[in-house]
Parts: sequence; C-alpha cells; structure tokens
Amino acid sequence: MAKKKRVLVLHGPNLNLLGKREPKIYGRLTLEQINRKIEALAQELGVEVEFRHSNSEGELVDWIQQAPKQFGALVINAAAYTHSSVALRDALTAAGIPAVEVHISNIYRREEFRKKSLIAEAVVGQITGFGVNSYLLGLRAAVECL
Ligand code: DQA
Repeated sequence: MAKKKRVLVLHGPNLNLLGKREPKIYGRLTLEQINRKIEALAQELGVEVEFRHSNSEGELVDWIQQAPKQFGALVINAAAYTHSSVALRDALTAAGIPAVEVHISNIYRREEFRKKSLIAEAVVGQITGFGVNSYLLGLRAAVECL
C-alpha cells in the first residue's frame, strides 16, 4: 500500500502491561486487544496500520525518525515519556509527518505532573480520556491528515 495510506501506531512504556495495569484507570483490554480494534477500524477506513511498542525512549525516537520513509502519519501514546521527553518531541518535530497524540486516561484529571505534555506542541492534536476509543478517534484524525 502507498506510504500515504499507512499509519504507524506507537505505544510507549508500560503499555505492554495493559489489562493488568491499574485497570480502574486504563481498563481491562490488553495491548493486543486494543491493536485488534485499531486494525478493524483501519480496514474499514481503507488504511494499513503497523503497531510498535517499546519501553525504551531511544527506540521510540529511532522509529519516529524512520517513519516518514514508510508512513503518512503517526498515532502515538507516548505514555510516561509524554511528560518528560524532549527527545520524543524533537523527533516528532523533525519527522514532519502529521502525528496524533492519544491517551487512554484523561491526563488533565490526574496528578499535576501528568497535566504537562512535552509532545503536545509537536503534534496536530491530542485525544485524551476516552479509553480504547482514544486510539480509534486518533486513527480517524490521523487518516484525515493523510
Ligand atoms: C497514559 C497517561 C500517562 O500519564 C501514563 O504515564 C501512561 C498512560 C494514558 O494512556 O492514559 O502510561 O499515556
């Protein structure tokens, strides 16, 4: 499929623990189950999605740097790196393809340190607080940007 019809979905640290991790905040779906829902929507929308998860900031930076060669847009849940990573922000800015920031929980209704997203200014927009639907809305938004 043409690059313009391909979206990279990036999952940051600890999201591999979804399903078991603080289910009251993040729900009971596993990362695999979330990916299957995104995949189903991608098929409906006629785009191809690729999923990558890493607990490592450097690996996420590498994938963002390489993304423009293969993908037209990004959906990213940077998880805890959202609040700390200048490197991810710089990589998103440098990549120059549209990115949508998503969060399962509403980061503005939680601890003070979560209310600041360092990547927010490097993305087209942010979807936060809708559970798994944040990813689905994020994919729709990314596809609008293609
Ligand atoms: C999160 C919110 C972050 O603050 C947190 O560190 C996460 C997940 C979310 O999807 O709600 O790991 O990005």
